[in-house]
Amino acid sequence: MQATCGDVKTFRPEVNDLKSEVQSHWENEVCGARYDSSISRQQHFNQIEHVRYTLEPYIAEFAGFAQARGKRVLEIGVGAGSDFHNWVKSGAIATGIDLTEAAIALSKEHLEVKQLSPESYSLRRADAENLPFGDNQFDLVYSWGVLHHTPNTALAFREAFRILKPGGTLKAMIYHIPSWTAWMLWAQNCLLKGRPFQSAGDAVFNHLESPGTKAYKIPQAEKMLAEVGFANVQLTTKLGPGDLLQIKPSRKYQQFISKVIWKLYPRWLVKRMGHRYGLYLLIKANKPN
Ligand SMILES: C[S@@+](CC[C@H](N)C(=O)[O-])C[C@H]1O[C@@H](n2cnc3c(N)ncnc32)[C@H](O)[C@@H]1O
Repeated sequence: MQATCGDVKTFRPEVNDLKSEVQSHWENEVCGARYDSSISRQQHFNQIEHVRYTLEPYIAEFAGFAQARGKRVLEIGVGAGSDFHNWVKSGAIATGIDLTEAAIALSKEHLEVKQLSPESYSLRRADAENLPFGDNQFDLVYSWGVLHHTPNTALAFREAFRILKPGGTLKAMIYHIPSWTAWMLWAQNCLLKGRPFQSAGDAVFNHLESPGTKAYKIPQAEKMLAEVGFANVQLTTKLGPGDLLQIKPSRKYQQFISKVIWKLYPRWLVKRMGHRYGLYLLIKANKPN
C-alpha cells in the first residue's frame, strides 16, 4: 500500500480496509518470532525472550512485572507472548489480546511450553479499538509496540482509558519521530527514490512493519492522551534496536541499499547521542480518580 500522510494520521473511512491489511501482515509474521531454526520449541521460546530482553533491557522495569502480583493487567497486542509470560509468572491476573489468531496461538503455546496452567490467564483475539471488556475493570493496561499499527490509535487509547479503573495506569510504547529509524527509512525509500518531499512520517507510514504505521512527535502524543482524559502523562524516548541496527533485517529489508546501510551505519555515534532521537516513545499515564 502506498499512501502519503502528514505527521499523524487520523481515522478516514477510505482506510477502513487498513485494519485487515494490518491483521494480514501480522498473521504472516508474528512479531519477535522470526529467530527460528531447527531447535526445540522450549529453546525457541527461550531464545525469543533472550533476544528481546537483551536488545530491549528497559522493558522489565518500564512494565513493572515485579510489582504486578495480584493486579488485574490487560496486555494489548501480545505478539509472541514474552511480556505476557512475565505478567503471568509475576502473579498478575493477566488478560492478553491480539488482533491475530497467529499471535494468540503462539502465545498460548509459549505459556504451555513454560508450564503455566491455562487457568492462570486469559488470552483471546480482540481488537484494541473495540475491547470486549466492561468499563473500569483493570489496574494496568500495557501495550508495547502495538497501538501505532492500528488505524485509529486515538480510539484505541480511548478504549484503554474506558476499561481502566479510576486511578489505574496505562503503560504503552508507540513510535516516535524525529528518530533514527524514521530518517533511515526516509533516506532509503524517499530520498534515494527521488521523493525527498515526502516526510519521515510518510516513510514510517509506508515502510515500517505493517501498512499505515504511525510515529508521533511528543507534543502530538501529549495532545492525543490529554484529549482522551489521561492525567500524569510521562513521555520518555528510547533508542530501539532498529535505531542501532541491531536486529537481523527481515525479508522486507534485503535490497542492496539496505545491506550498504547495515554495513556503514555509525552505530557508535547514534549511541553516543543518547535516547533523544529514539524510535520508542514510552508512555506512563493514569486515569484520574
Ligand atoms: C510489533 S508487534 C508487537 C507485539 C508484542 N507486543 C511485542 O512487543 O513483541 C504488533 C502486534 O500488534 C498487534 N495488533 C495490531 N493492531 C492491533 C489491534 N487493533 N488490536 C490488537 N492487536 C493489534 C499485531 O497483531 C501484532 O501482534
